[in-house]
Amino acid sequence: MSTERSTNSPAAHPWKGRVAFVSGAASGIGFGLARVLASRGVRVAMSDVRREALDSACARLAAEGADVAPFVLDVADRAAFYATADAVEQRFGKVHYVFNNAGVGEVGTPLDQVPDRVFDWVIDVNLRGVFNGIKAFVPKLRRHGEGGHVVNVSSMAALVPDPGWHQGVYAATKMAVTALSLDLRLALAGTGIEVSILYPGLVRTDIAANVGALRPVAYDMPPETPALLAAADMPPETAAEIVLRGMERRAPLIVTHPLMWPVVAQFHDQVRAAFEAAP
Ligand code: NAI
Repeated sequence: MSTERSTNSPAAHPWKGRVAFVSGAASGIGFGLARVLASRGVRVAMSDVRREALDSACARLAAEGADVAPFVLDVADRAAFYATADAVEQRFGKVHYVFNNAGVGEVGTPLDQVPDRVFDWVIDVNLRGVFNGIKAFVPKLRRHGEGGHVVNVSSMAALVPDPGWHQGVYAATKMAVTALSLDLRLALAGTGIEVSILYPGLVRTDIAANVGALRPVAYDMPPETPALLAAADMPPETAAEIVLRGMERRAPLIVTHPLMWPVVAQFHDQVRAAFEAAP
C-alpha cells in the first residue's frame, strides 16, 4: 500500500472549522457557496448589501445547522469593507477563505446608450468591489500564516467577449477580475494563500431581479436579458460544489460549463488569426 498522501484530495482539504467570507451571499451563487461550505463544516460570514434578504438567507442556513452570521456591506464602499473584515475577524477569528462574489450584470444595451451612472455602478461593484475585498482581507490572511484561498468571481463573459449581445461594461469588469486575480496569485506565491478565478456559465439565480432592484437609475432591463437568463439551468449549489472541487485541486481557473469551450475557442482563433496575419 502506498504511503504517499495527496494533499489535493478532498479528504486532505482542511475545510472543517475554517472560516469563510462570502460577498453577495443573500442570493444565487454566493448563497450556494455559503451553503456548500457550511455543509463541509466551514463557518461562514455571509455578506450582502440587501439587509432583509441577507438576514433571511442567514436564518435559513442557521436553521440547517450552519455556523453563519450576517454582515451587511456594499462592496463598493472601501472603508466599510475594512470595517467589515475587522468585524468578521472579531466574530469568527482567523479568516481562511474569501469569496469576492457580489456582482451586478447589465447586458443588452448598446454601449453608447448605457447610462453613465449605470457604467459607474457596474465598475464600482464588480471591479472596485473585488479590489476592496482583496485589500480588506488578504493582509489578514498573510498575517495569520495558516494559508487560505481567495476566489474571485468573473464570468464566461470575460472569455466570450462578443457573444452577439451587448455586454461591454459587464465583460470589461469581469476581464478586469482576471487581471487582478492573476496578479494577486503572483503576489501570494509561496505564502500558502491560493487564488482562483471562477468563470460561471449560466447559473439559475435571481440576478435579473436583484439588478433591477439595485440599479441606481430607473432603466428597463433589455428584453434579451430575461430570455438569456431563463436559459440558465445549473443550480447555484452545483456551481458551488464545482468551485470547492477546484479549490481542492488548487486550480487557478475554474469553469462551471466545460461545454462552452468551442465558443471560447472562437475568440482564441481570432487572436491567432490576427497574429498569423501580422506583417
Ligand atoms: P445574484 O443576484 O443572485 O446574487 C448576487 C448578490 O450580490 C445579490 O444578493 C446582491 O444583493 C448582491 N450584491 C449586489 N450588489 C452588491 C453590492 N454593491 N455589495 C454587496 N452585495 C451586492 O447573482 P448571481 O447570479 O448569484 O451572481 C453572483 C456572481 O456570479 C456575480 O459576480 C455575477 O456577475 C457572477 N456570474 C453569474 C452568472 C449567472 O449565470 N448567474 C454567470 C456568470 C457570472
